[in-house]
Amino acid sequence: MSSPSAAPVAYDDAAERRHLALRQEFLLDPDVVFLNHGSFGACPRPVFERYQQWQRELERQPVEFLSRRERGLLAEARAALAGYVGCAADDLVYVSNVTTALNIVARSLPLEPGDEILTTDHEYGALERTWTFVAEHRQAKLVIQPLPLPITDPDEVVDAMWAGFTPRTRVLFLSHITSPTAVTLPIERLIARAREAGIWTVIDGAHAPGQIDLDLSGLEVDFYGGNCHKWLSSA
Ligand SMILES: Cc1ncc(COP(=O)(O)O)c(C=O)c1O
Repeated sequence: MSSPSAAPVAYDDAAERRHLALRQEFLLDPDVVFLNHGSFGACPRPVFERYQQWQRELERQPVEFLSRRERGLLAEARAALAGYVGCAADDLVYVSNVTTALNIVARSLPLEPGDEILTTDHEYGALERTWTFVAEHRQAKLVIQPLPLPITDPDEVVDAMWAGFTPRTRVLFLSHITSPTAVTLPIERLIARAREAGIWTVIDGAHAPGQIDLDLSGLEVDFYGGNCHKWLSSA
């Protein structure tokens, strides 16, 4: 939330060589300057080659791979990712993407008529529609708090969110890094506040893995969905 420096970035020859070498690690069209890892991250060559190796391995012995090896291999992969995002491997589940993950969560919470879901006006459309659907289905209420813009102080965000809290609030849902505005929201403070109030916290971390350091256990969040296919540049 600090203002970025307006000074132009100077690239020396060494930096330029490093960038060109890095570019060689990707399969991207050389005529394209690809900046949109926020939609679908480009996959670096070594990652691409490794996942193709796994696909070939699966094709050599499909039944053996899927019925005897898959569980152990996924456990290894979960342990590696859990170390990276700072949580226990058994608390981590692989699904296709964050929309699927948070749909599972939103549709599973035992909300009752009159309960309230507190969120911001900076959420990603698919998830906003998910909570609208869940609220209608459960006769609950979706409370969308407008965030102040420009945001200059994290406390302003906490206050703006908490202005929507009532005794019927059961869930706090918000993005870690917002889609329309690319703001990193002060989720630590909001989760701590929600915990004191005894309400569930659901965080959309679509843009966090690979972009900012994560320590999910330290956050004490109830549900955190992230994407590996964006900034982490996984396959
Ligand atoms: C904040 C946020 N949440 C969720 C998503 C959806 O990601 P996916 O389609 O991978 O589930 C996006 C996509 O850009 C996003 O920006």
